Amino acid sequence: MIAIVAVDEHYAIGHKGGMLFHLPDDLKYFAAQTRGKTLVMGRKTLESFPGGKPLKGRPHIVFSRNPDYHPEGVTLVRSVKELEQAIRGLPGDEVMLCGGDSLYHLLIDCCDSALVTKIEAAAKQADSFFPNLDAKDNWELANCRERQEQNGLGFRFCEYVNKAVAPLNEIIAMEDKK
Ligand SMILES: NC(=O)c1ccc[n+]([C@@H]2O[C@H](COP(=O)([O-])OP(=O)(O)OC[C@H]3O[C@@H](n4cnc5c(N)ncnc54)[C@H](OP(=O)(O)O)[C@@H]3O)[C@@H](O)[C@H]2O)c1
Repeated sequence: MIAIVAVDEHYAIGHKGGMLFHLPDDLKYFAAQTRGKTLVMGRKTLESFPGGKPLKGRPHIVFSRNPDYHPEGVTLVRSVKELEQAIRGLPGDEVMLCGGDSLYHLLIDCCDSALVTKIEAAAKQADSFFPNLDAKDNWELANCRERQEQNGLGFRFCEYVNKAVAPLNEIIAMEDKK
């Protein structure tokens, strides 16, 4: 599984259900990196998409615990065990973890790599965050593309790799203990 995210200087990713910055080139990058792949996300991230609808051309797997929630055009999962069943047999690089805060924190160590758009700004207000990969021993910054600028913001497309990928079964075992 590959995580994809845009973060500010403090790993902030969102506020009040929305994104922090508008960077059309990052949206294009997201579209290109996820095209044809299976997207995994939480219910609130799906609701943050235009019209609360899934993006075209890529299967969506959406987490929710609400038994009355039945959005169209997505596969719903209630647990990591159900996620494991839904993605079984898919190559790891065909599954993209797209947020938000709760799903990134739950599943980041099960990802092989993370595509992190690093935005050179500090959001004035934020309530959602990505795990600080620089502070995690198992994660390493592999490369960053050349710096770009748009809408007065500098940013770089970077890739982190996980040197000790945890199996989903570890998270499933924790779920079972709850
Ligand atoms: N900058 C970026 O790249 C980026 C990317 C994605 C999202 N975001 C931002 O992140 C924020 C949303 O993050 P968030 O953490 O509040 O929401 P989220 O992770 O998108 O969705 C949370 C919801 O997912 C379900 N869920 C979470 N863990 C679960 C589990 N273990 N089992 C079953 N269901 C589970 C629950 O749905 P129910 O309540 O229905 O049970 C929960 O309320 C927004 O501001 C969004 O814009 C930013």
